[in-house]
Amino acid sequence: MKKIFALVMSAVLVVPSLVGCSGIKSEKADVVVIGAGGAGLAAAVEAHDNGAKVIVLEKMPMVGGNTNRATGGLNASGTPHQEKAGVKDSQELFYEDTMKGGYNKNNPELVKILTTQAKDSVAWLTGLGADLTDVGRMAGASVNRTHRPTGGAAVGAHIVDTLKKAADERKVDIRLWNEAVEIIKDKDGNVTGVKAKNKDKKEYTINAKSVILTAGGFSANQEMVVKYKPELKGFATTNHAGATGDGITLGTNAGSKLVDMTEIQTHPTVVPGKGVMVTEAVRGNGAILINKDGKRFVNELLTRDVVSKAILDQKDKVGYLFFDQGMKESLKAVEEYFNMELVTEADSVEELADKLNIDKATLVESVNKYNESVKSKNDSEFGRPDMPRTLDKPKFYAIEVTPAVHHTMGGLVINTEAQVIGENGQPIKGLYAAGEVTGGVHGGNRLGGNALADIVTFGRIAGLGAAKTSK
Ligand code: FAD
Ligand code: FUM
Repeated sequence: MKKIFALVMSAVLVVPSLVGCSGIKSEKADVVVIGAGGAGLAAAVEAHDNGAKVIVLEKMPMVGGNTNRATGGLNASGTPHQEKAGVKDSQELFYEDTMKGGYNKNNPELVKILTTQAKDSVAWLTGLGADLTDVGRMAGASVNRTHRPTGGAAVGAHIVDTLKKAADERKVDIRLWNEAVEIIKDKDGNVTGVKAKNKDKKEYTINAKSVILTAGGFSANQEMVVKYKPELKGFATTNHAGATGDGITLGTNAGSKLVDMTEIQTHPTVVPGKGVMVTEAVRGNGAILINKDGKRFVNELLTRDVVSKAILDQKDKVGYLFFDQGMKESLKAVEEYFNMELVTEADSVEELADKLNIDKATLVESVNKYNESVKSKNDSEFGRPDMPRTLDKPKFYAIEVTPAVHHTMGGLVINTEAQVIGENGQPIKGLYAAGEVTGGVHGGNRLGGNALADIVTFGRIAGLGAAKTSK
């Protein structure tokens, strides 16, 4: 009888520690990664390669997050690909461009890491099988430093494929439809694990000494966007549906400090009513912007905030990206816009003007004037610094565009080791973060191509640090 009582009691005492009230077993890992976008996958691979058992939680039915949507490229200076293309760049110039683009609100220490280590991120991705050999221009950059696949193909899905394959080869445990709901800490403030909900909404716990928050930004959370930047009420977004700012909530509930939350970026060239972003690389490779009067109205390579404002100042708050066959053939990523039937096309500039209901003579004059500027290497009207090609090879194309919410620069405060900083100014032991969930890297305005450099560089730093802490 005594034996039976003892058995029952031990079951009562032991079972709750193995099986939560939901009936699901508690588990153990060295590192839990929250969010399987680019930052999370890079962190997971790096943590695994530094000896950690890693579990990745992803709330959506697929990996990749916003990283899947990235198009224009990844910025890095000092790569063999830049050298092959004859680009003269330096890490100092990359640093200066990034700080200037961010209105010097960026955390200089983080920018130093970004601009010195981005080339290693390119090398690391290349080692995992990525093709980042095409080097082009994005707005706010003094030189060509945006890396993407051969022919200027879209970069994001390619990077996600590369990282997912690397994670699968390493048998990293990636759980789709699994949402992190809480970061658990002990009474001393050390991270001890994560509470998550599985596909059936059942809650379970993973015990781990290290947690990496890579849950992305909050551009798809209209309420949160408007809370921090009321003037963006009613704007569409370029982001995937999962960019709802969970990481900000999870981080602040765990004691993290926030920075730059009001710094929210619009992307200037998004198709009205569709939310499809037309990559900045289109302008980088030579496209111009015209308004409904058929006139250019801005240096197309100024930063996103400036170009967005310029478009919103035009009739009906829209502009047209105008380009020719030469530009089209220089950038594979453009093909997608044709597949989606977003492009108006014509055999002559006059015919295009007719189709867009724009004054023919004005459009022809604007295009001719721009082509003269290209030839004389002097854009006397708008001071555009880089004009890679004349726009004179039929066919001619136009895509209507307007700004939409694109990137949230603010987020969790991190240090150069990607440790999350608490309200007391000290790192929260065991908590790391990387990517769009963090703030400080991009200051008041992110340059095109710098997010991918950020997520891979700081994702890897977080992975390494988390693996070490877990031991
Ligand atoms: P994400 O890639 O968004 O990943 C975060 C993941 O976390 C998501 O999968 C999300 O579902 C998951 N998640 C969220 N909450 C939870 C939770 N509670 N539990 C579990 N999982 C969760 N930048 C560039 O540098 N170059 C470009 O060419 C470029 N093009 C872009 C084009 C578009 C259309 C967009 C939208 C962005 C572009 N950017 C580009 C920006 C860049 O893609 C993003 O900033 C970057 O990919 C963010 O990476 P991340 O890993 O931090 O977040
Ligand atoms: O225009 C784009 O391709 C987007 C780039 C970015 O957000 O960095």
